[in-house]
Amino acid sequence: MNSIYDYPAYYEVAFSFRDIRREVDTLERCMSLFSRIPVHTMLELGCGPAPHMPELMRRGYEYIGIDLNQKMLDFASARAVHAGFSPTLLRRDMVQFTLARQVDFVFILLGSLYAANAAELSSHFESVAATLRPGGIYFLDWCVQFTRSSEDSGSWEIKQNQLRVKTSYTRRAIDAADHIFEEVIRLKVNDGDNELELEERNTKRAIYPQEFLFLTETMGLFEFMGWRNNWNLDEPLDERGAIPHDKRIERPIVVIRRI
Ligand SMILES: C[S@@+](CC[C@H](N)C(=O)[O-])C[C@H]1O[C@@H](n2cnc3c(N)ncnc32)[C@H](O)[C@@H]1O
Repeated sequence: MNSIYDYPAYYEVAFSFRDIRREVDTLERCMSLFSRIPVHTMLELGCGPAPHMPELMRRGYEYIGIDLNQKMLDFASARAVHAGFSPTLLRRDMVQFTLARQVDFVFILLGSLYAANAAELSSHFESVAATLRPGGIYFLDWCVQFTRSSEDSGSWEIKQNQLRVKTSYTRRAIDAADHIFEEVIRLKVNDGDNELELEERNTKRAIYPQEFLFLTETMGLFEFMGWRNNWNLDEPLDERGAIPHDKRIERPIVVIRRI
């Protein structure tokens, strides 16, 4: 089946439920609360169509985006031209990458941490650490798994003019002991005339809160700044990552700082 990431325009519609300006406000609030350095250059990992890029550049930041998929990078590039900006968009693997220069802030959105096992996770954090200036922030959206269940599923539909995009996702354990799971995202696209089905199937290594703390501590590269629920800095999660029983965990964010 065709890959979702080869159809950036449909991907955009599927995930257009986000309030981009509000999210950029949150990124800036994290800078002022946690960063020890002024932020000029921001790096997005797995940037895809780079939906936050125009708003960030409008606010004066230099933007670098890396992604494996050339169609996503081309789409992001066209978006930049249309908005009159010149970001740096590079084809790189987030598992192991280098940049020509260091950046002041790194972020990764919508659970896009594509590491298939523990070795890839370590390599990822080492690459980020080498790229991020001391005192700078690494902001992760939905990359730490706060729910214990390895099984999950959901769906939603978004309509834009003639276009209807139905998204569904499932997550199931492949190797529970090693925290390896498979994530499948499917899009059913109807443009008024034709129907198209797209799929993204990935094997990922889940990181649970305790392990995330252990990993960042033992690597000695980052210090833990905190985690919050639902992109809301006023909605903290327990220090150890325990979930308050009355809370539904939705897009939890995690902030760590380069030592
Ligand atoms: C869920 S999309 C997120 C896109 C964008 N950050 C956003 O917020 O809409 C995940 C992106 O990660 C990219 N990707 C997947 N594996 C990658 C890897 N190993 N290195 C770099 N990018 C990767 C995909 O091509 C895709 O564009």
